[in-house]
Amino acid sequence: MEEEGVVEGVKNNAEEDENKKEKKKRKNRCYGNYKHYYDSRNGGKFNDDPRLQIFKKEWFEDKDCLDVGCNSGIVTISIAKKFCCRSILGIDIDPDRVKDAKSNLRKAVKSICGEKKMRLEGSELKMLKQTQVNGNGILKGYEASVDLRKSVESKSDEGMNGEEIGRRNLGDIVSFKEENFVEAEYDPRQEHYDTIVCLSVTQWIHLNWGDDGLMTLFRKIRDLLRPGGLFVLEPQKWKSYRRKRRISETTILNYKNIKLRPEKFMRTLLEKVCIKFVTSISISLQILLTPDI
Ligand SMILES: C[S@@+](CC[C@H](N)C(=O)[O-])C[C@H]1O[C@@H](n2cnc3c(N)ncnc32)[C@H](O)[C@@H]1O
Repeated sequence: MEEEGVVEGVKNNAEEDENKKEKKKRKNRCYGNYKHYYDSRNGGKFNDDPRLQIFKKEWFEDKDCLDVGCNSGIVTISIAKKFCCRSILGIDIDPDRVKDAKSNLRKAVKSICGEKKMRLEGSELKMLKQTQVNGNGILKGYEASVDLRKSVESKSDEGMNGEEIGRRNLGDIVSFKEENFVEAEYDPRQEHYDTIVCLSVTQWIHLNWGDDGLMTLFRKIRDLLRPGGLFVLEPQKWKSYRRKRRISETTILNYKNIKLRPEKFMRTLLEKVCIKFVTSISISLQILLTPDI
């Protein structure tokens, strides 16, 4: 009997541990805050998000941008690199994803510095060889190397294509912050953006904070946009909500009460949030423009 009791006790403990683990796992993804989100989405390829092929440079170039729900910052960093924003801030509710994003930014800055150094060294060597071969007007010693470096640096910056950010440091352009966008207080008199992206986040806000939370998201984005600013929205489809609804008791309840389904978003944004519709450039991606007032 006693032994049975012990066996039962062990079993109960094991079950409890298993339940705890499962609960933790669920909590860790109840906002879509998956650790390896981009591994599953893009096969781990840093610059290969298909959405970046659809985005247009003019939405981001020289603009102040905000990325709501940035996860580990891969898309945020790629937007900054590819489209040369003036600034881009990524915010996410999960402190661990924000840590990952900051670490990814450090890696990206390091890799750009490395590439630039290699390019510089390669061109410097080539130019040095050319100078020696030409023979005429050779500069000597320190003066020569400074002049060469300046000339190589300007050539190397001129040669940068749209995939790179040029002279400015990626680390000065991109930043990340831990924040719950639905609950955080913003002062639109202090904070403004030209472009706000919100990609694959609506479902999570909807399931966790219901219709009210979603309207709060839309209204906050409207208030934070400069007149004529762009809102780039990628909403999830309703059928995707169904698969995720059991993540917590809150999501089960909210799922049942949702009235504002994704197919009504455009109309709601136009009529209730006062955002001027521009275009739907793919089935899932919607581009919206705030009125020029
Ligand atoms: C599925 S991921 C999408 C990541 C990224 N936007 C993309 O499409 O590549 C959703 C992200 O939104 C974040 N998120 C969910 N609710 C949020 C909230 N209320 N405030 C800020 N971030 C939120 C999650 O933590 C998660 O990292």
